[in-house]
Amino acid sequence: MKTLVITGGTDGMGRELARTYLRRGDTVVIVGRDKGKALPGAHFIAADLSLVSENRRVVDELNAAYPAVDALVLCARYFRSARFVTTEGFEATFALEYLSRHLLSHGLTGPGVVVNVSGPGVPIGRIHWDDPMLERGYDGVAAQMQAGRANDLLGVAFTAERAASRTRYVLINPGPVSTAFRGEYDAATRGHRPEQRRRWPCVSPGAARRRVRGRPAWLSGRCHSLSVGAGDSLVWP
Ligand SMILES: NC(=O)c1ccc[n+]([C@@H]2O[C@H](COP(=O)([O-])OP(=O)(O)OC[C@H]3O[C@@H](n4cnc5c(N)ncnc54)[C@H](OP(=O)(O)O)[C@@H]3O)[C@@H](O)[C@H]2O)c1
Repeated sequence: MKTLVITGGTDGMGRELARTYLRRGDTVVIVGRDKGKALPGAHFIAADLSLVSENRRVVDELNAAYPAVDALVLCARYFRSARFVTTEGFEATFALEYLSRHLLSHGLTGPGVVVNVSGPGVPIGRIHWDDPMLERGYDGVAAQMQAGRANDLLGVAFTAERAASRTRYVLINPGPVSTAFRGEYDAATRGHRPEQRRRWPCVSPGAARRRVRGRPAWLSGRCHSLSVGAGDSLVWP
């Protein structure tokens, strides 16, 4: 039996990963905002992961209650068309999609593997070193891309700093997948959603049986259920 901690485990890919592992009898700990959306059988830690203080509390709770985590899976995301600043003063996408992942990755005591589901290999977007909070000219996609590039650096730096550690660090880009797309969208961005839902593969429990290891979901163009493979990669069973 394995122990998995999944952020963003109340929807989208994180939720389907949780479903897969619960079905196998593993211990699944979901960290999220809405206990009502957690799958039955999952352990739940309530937290708004866009807040640094909440991430620190979650790290303490996890280390105390689950000292031997096999996999930490980072899936929490939330799109914002309009710039939003947390009560701690951070631009919210930077806080949720990068800072939280940094704090959880480094804070947990020796998980077997950290699986950071983000966007490695995407050749667009950049870190705005001179304006990381995007105070000058915010754009929701630019904010997500910045978080993606920052996670690329997080994964590389984690591995370099902890060469002797048993923890492996995996950055994975699932490709475009039709999920819950949680967020607050303006009308123009929301207008793309029906087309994305129609064209992009979806996550759906038990929808696919063909095993596609280490392959972006968009390549096969069908629905997938998800799991973390015996190796380091996400697997679409
Ligand atoms: N979908 C794609 O096409 C795609 C492509 C490339 C990479 N990815 C990456 O894949 C991962 C999963 O994406 P997805 O599309 O499956 O996500 P999703 O369906 O939009 O679900 C997002 C999850 O994050 C949680 N969340 C949002 N704000 C939170 C907060 N402040 N604190 C705690 N939890 C919060 C949501 O919880 P609530 O239920 O409370 O809202 C939900 O469980 C993300 O890291 C994303 O960047 C996705």
